[in-house]
Amino acid sequence: KKSQAWSALFSEPMSELVKRYTASVFFDKRLWQADITGSLAHAEMLGHQGIIGKDDHAAIQKGMAQIWSEIESGQFEWKLDLEDVHLNIEARLTQLVGDAGKRLHTGRSRNDQVATDVRLWLRSEMDLIIDLLVDLQKSLVEVAEKNVEVIMPGFTHLQVAQPVSFAHHLLAYVEMFARDAERMSDVRRRTNRLPLGSAALAGTTYPLDRERVARTLGMVDEHGNAQVCQNSLDGVSDRDFAIEFTAAASLCMVHISRMSEELILWMSQNFGFIKIADRFTTGSSIMPQKKNPDVPELARGKTGRVVGHLMGLITLMKGQPLAYNKDNQEDKEPLFDTVDTLKDTLRIFSEMVGGQVNPATGQKEGGITVNAQAMEDAAKKGFATATDLADYLVKKGQPFRDAHETVAHAVKAAASHNCDLSELPLEVLQSFHPTIEKDVYDCLSLHGSLNARNTLGGTAPVQVRAQIERHHKRLA
Ligand code: ARG
Repeated sequence: KKSQAWSALFSEPMSELVKRYTASVFFDKRLWQADITGSLAHAEMLGHQGIIGKDDHAAIQKGMAQIWSEIESGQFEWKLDLEDVHLNIEARLTQLVGDAGKRLHTGRSRNDQVATDVRLWLRSEMDLIIDLLVDLQKSLVEVAEKNVEVIMPGFTHLQVAQPVSFAHHLLAYVEMFARDAERMSDVRRRTNRLPLGSAALAGTTYPLDRERVARTLGMVDEHGNAQVCQNSLDGVSDRDFAIEFTAAASLCMVHISRMSEELILWMSQNFGFIKIADRFTTGSSIMPQKKNPDVPELARGKTGRVVGHLMGLITLMKGQPLAYNKDNQEDKEPLFDTVDTLKDTLRIFSEMVGGQVNPATGQKEGGITVNAQAMEDAAKKGFATATDLADYLVKKGQPFRDAHETVAHAVKAAASHNCDLSELPLEVLQSFHPTIEKDVYDCLSLHGSLNARNTLGGTAPVQVRAQIERHHKRLA
């Protein structure tokens, strides 16, 4: 009895090592739902076009329903001998429904089948990822809302630059994750196109209705037009969507990684700006006092892993001649791992930042804890309002470049007195420029500095509140 779909031509069986080397079933079985869904759409169309009988179509439906529940309940027996998810399911179908099962593959190849499966699978994963990105943005916005008036030092070169609202800082990440979600939707559009009907590479001799299959599978644009890969060679060999997705995922992980780096810095004793809940930290086996930020550190580390998958996939495609090559089987593990890593990371970050709903109170609890005093103290170091003093002098008539120089002298004096600019007596400040008056202290205060940056996208609390409003509407 032949054990492989093509064995009549072969004079000897595959060696065990080669079997193991070429098989993909132990990872691609994950595509089973997409595989069955794609097969059912194909079979429906074959029946509709009169390529197979209505009775064959009905038998296929019945058999597939049984296979679905066998797999779902863990009863399905996956066989390495049958190489991949496609051949495993097809063989079982034939076992269950006989010749109808053998007719399913009419006008189809595993090449267009697998390309369809991966697209269907990735499409639904991207929908989940977009939802998770919305959750994370909401968590950040919620924490921002409570911290509009909390002032922290803004940094450039990790040197104190100008005071900013802590909320403003958090909303910078909301912008990044909003772009990530946008990118995912964009990739989704190009993923949501049907390769099926390309057959092995050249198209097929049967009168397939590819657009019908596309519509059945929801592969339609925003106007409801069927989206079908328009060139059979490209249809079976295009993995751009997988690369684009992994690139979008990498960028998202880079954003997570930058945020992780900041969380780690902020919770170090030398900053002391925030705490994260204990359940996201671990202790040390030797140092009893330790609480380490393992979760953000791991996220930063896993970013390397996802970027590695991007490199893997893009290199996989380089140098492949048209059309399908077995190389493409290697697209799955990096893609699967990218999806798993990104989803887990987004979930954990939403909770670590925003906390979790306590069912008893309906309130979120256990998000990051903010030490407003530590942030404000830090903002007072490093002459964060020096630019405000320069702007003050400009309003009094000094050209900006001269004002810049004047303030440099004032900073030098404050540094030598070991005090902040706002702590210099008025006479001392006036010695740098005679136009300086008592109202200078308003602009040298942290709140004065913050309020003054009242332009669209600036850190003034009114602007930050307006952004929070906008995000609430956008994310609702
Ligand atoms: N398991 C294969 C893959 O993932 C399915 C397609 C195999 N096609 C072939 N002609 N060998 O790419």
